[in-house]
Amino acid sequence: MIVTTAQLFKVAYGKFAIGAYNINNAEQTMGLFKGCIAAKAPFIIQLSKGARKYTDKRMLEAIIRSAEEIFPEAIYAVHLDHGDEETCYDCIDSGFYSSVMIDASHDPFEKNVEITKRVVDRAHAKGLSVEAELGMLGGVEEDIKVDEGNACLTNPDEVEAFVSKSGCDSLAAAIGTSHGAYKFKGQQSLHFEVIEAIQKRMPGLPIVMHGSSSVPREEVLRINKAGGTLDPTACGVNEDEYLPAAKLGVTKVNIDTDGRLVWTRVHREYFRDHPGEFDFRPPGKIFIEEYAKFIAAKSVKLGSAGQLDEVRKAVTKR
Ligand code: G3H
Ligand code: 13P
Ligand code: ZN
Repeated sequence: MIVTTAQLFKVAYGKFAIGAYNINNAEQTMGLFKGCIAAKAPFIIQLSKGARKYTDKRMLEAIIRSAEEIFPEAIYAVHLDHGDEETCYDCIDSGFYSSVMIDASHDPFEKNVEITKRVVDRAHAKGLSVEAELGMLGGVEEDIKVDEGNACLTNPDEVEAFVSKSGCDSLAAAIGTSHGAYKFKGQQSLHFEVIEAIQKRMPGLPIVMHGSSSVPREEVLRINKAGGTLDPTACGVNEDEYLPAAKLGVTKVNIDTDGRLVWTRVHREYFRDHPGEFDFRPPGKIFIEEYAKFIAAKSVKLGSAGQLDEVRKAVTKR
């Protein structure tokens, strides 16, 4: 059942985080639904601009609608990830999405507010909620690359003004993470002082953590053993920090890279071990199962595992 993102946030806020997973194809979708059903976890499907272009946005929508028929017990929202204004309007008008993200964080504060407000007005008129970003994460997102030197943490003193002027419903905050596999060198913690300061100023405002993949070392090593050349010192967010962050209002945790690593490991190992093979279905089947396992394990770390029955009592169909 597709529900609004706001309904999921209401149940989860301060208790656990909802995993928001980027999908691009049928195999990921199958694995995602399977994993969330196995873990009894609510979830958010994220579609990026790149994903909507990869095959076709209509294809993605059809895949999700089919998954809904195959897994009628699933409870989830559909969200546009890192949208520009034009893509937000396309999603709002499509009637398919639960929420959109307008990412104008690369613009100065006032311009960010102005753009976000326009999107909020259009989205709220159709019952969708809006995620906006304040501060700047490092790494690569869509066509924009922000190097670590230019990344900047969200300033908690700006949050109240930004939210009240723009009317956004949730806030993507820069709290020390970045997109992609190369986040940190060595162990690095989330900036809990920033999360705490935001929650203190705006209790109840769902905070969104982008760049939340954990980039498991064993996954990177297996990929490299099977022919990959990833930087073995790469590491991501400590999964044991998801729940403490959730208790402070981090309600949506965005994960894409970790799923890509599962895909790469499965396919590299499969074709290394079966060099004469050219049927994509055997590794595809393995990927679906491995991705489902990965999603179920993530749900435990996020605290969303086992919440499905509670969520079902609190939500209605979007
Ligand atoms: O933050 C970006 C997400 O990982 C989506 O990546 O734009 O390559 O689909 P993408
Ligand atoms: P990762 O690159 O850490 O998976 O982050 C994904 C993300 O933030 C999508 O919006
Ligand atoms: Zn992101």
